[in-house]
Amino acid sequence: MIATIIIVLAQTLVGVTSIPEADTIGDLPGQPQVKFQQYSGYITVDDQQQRALFYYFVEAEEHPTSKPLVLWLNGGPGCSSIGFGAFAEHGPFRPSDNNVLEKNDYSWNKEANVLYLESPAGVGFSYSSNESFYALVTDEITARDNLVFLQRWVTKFPEYSNNNFFITGESYAGHYVPQLAQLIVQTKTKFNLKGIAIGNPLLEFNTDFNCKSEFLWSHGLISDSTYEVLTKVCNYSSIRRLLQYGNLRGVCATVNNQMLTEVSKYIDKYDVTLDVCLPSVNQQAYVLNQPQETRNIDVCVDDKTITYLNRKDVQEALHAKLVGVPKWLSCSNVLHYDPQNIEIPTISILESLVKSSIRVLVYSGDQDSVIPLMGSRSLVNGLAKELELNTTVSYRAWFEERQVAGWTQVYGDILSYATIRGAAHEAPFSQPQRSLVLLKAFLQGKPLPSKFEQI
Ligand SMILES: *[C@@H]1O[C@H](CO)[C@@H](O)[C@H](O)[C@H]1NC(C)=O
Ligand SMILES: *[C@@H]1O[C@H](CO)[C@@H](O)[C@H](O)[C@H]1NC(C)=O
Ligand SMILES: *[C@@H]1O[C@H](CO)[C@@H](O)[C@H](O)[C@H]1NC(C)=O
Repeated sequence: MIATIIIVLAQTLVGVTSIPEADTIGDLPGQPQVKFQQYSGYITVDDQQQRALFYYFVEAEEHPTSKPLVLWLNGGPGCSSIGFGAFAEHGPFRPSDNNVLEKNDYSWNKEANVLYLESPAGVGFSYSSNESFYALVTDEITARDNLVFLQRWVTKFPEYSNNNFFITGESYAGHYVPQLAQLIVQTKTKFNLKGIAIGNPLLEFNTDFNCKSEFLWSHGLISDSTYEVLTKVCNYSSIRRLLQYGNLRGVCATVNNQMLTEVSKYIDKYDVTLDVCLPSVNQQAYVLNQPQETRNIDVCVDDKTITYLNRKDVQEALHAKLVGVPKWLSCSNVLHYDPQNIEIPTISILESLVKSSIRVLVYSGDQDSVIPLMGSRSLVNGLAKELELNTTVSYRAWFEERQVAGWTQVYGDILSYATIRGAAHEAPFSQPQRSLVLLKAFLQGKPLPSKFEQI
């Protein structure tokens, strides 16, 4: 009895084993048995306005205390890290048929403790009780709320406060991730921030969007003549900018329509080699008509996630609630995100992070036409020149098992670029195994495998 009290007291003082009971997930409906612990719930980021962010935290499968802490953010802006990151990309489970969750053999919690955050408020289960908040959300607000989230989350999980910490994400998180990392550096917040990794990230509006036409053309999705117009008459960045403000007309509108017609509606722009998920009415016939597929990718996983996360029993198990919205959505329809923020270049933030000795990895799923690899590769290359970083690993193939998994280049042992061969905008969705190898090397600060061998 006295011994117990002393132990409890000691633990309270040192703050080692605090298990946030209320946030512990017993089991998610339909999940297979696992040995690791899962948590989810809310962290209030504004007490007065009752603004709270929802998280889902999965401890590493083995030895969680000695593994790094990885925060994952999806983009949009306004899309859910739980809907995409956790349930379609690298979480421990994927929703399958018959209300069952399947184990993902390449989940990132094999290498890390992974924290999925729905941000900003208005996304997924995250909310602001004062709905005026949704009227104009900016990158600055998102970064500030995410920082408050992290500071308060760590007080709930103090045993992770000293672990190596990495911030990761994709797409519009090319804004969220560097901006949050920069805020941590600027405010000297005590996190053990070691690095950031961003996949198919939006880093610089013109460069990232202008290479779309070359990607579509070189993959045979548009004609020579359309490509010529896109090169000489109206850029895709111009089209994208006009679309953003609802001003697309004239020659730019014509070339945009031409491009869309040629590509066709039945192409997944996030992975031009993948089949698309057809409406469920046709699905049965479609499945029956398919020749045997070698790649086992469920292109309908997003629909299954929406169904799963809208189940009452699932929301109860997750301690989630719907505040001010009738339904959980993968991308928010209440949030008005400042449309001008999309043009804020974040490549310069990567520069200051490298100068603060924070490792930076930019990677590209090489079948994505939305933020194609060429833009990211040239931006990183340009940044290395700007920083006068010499190449420490020359552009070369990297391997996973016995196949080429992509190409990579490293500058000054701190700034890296890598492609993932055959991967989507959401790289771990279509290439989970290769993505896990990439994550592992990044967390360990090692170069990617250069031969037929596992790291
Ligand atoms: C709600 O938020 C708006 C804008 O941030 C603010 O002006 C207003 O005072 C808030 N309302 C309440 C009841 O706090
Ligand atoms: C293409 O985009 C760039 C911005 O990167 C712009 O300066 C240029 O004028 C554009 N060219 C055409 C033909 O639209
Ligand atoms: C980069 O390479 C050049 C030429 O080989 C060398 O002079 C310079 O010292 C190198 N810089 C660093 C930071 O290693």
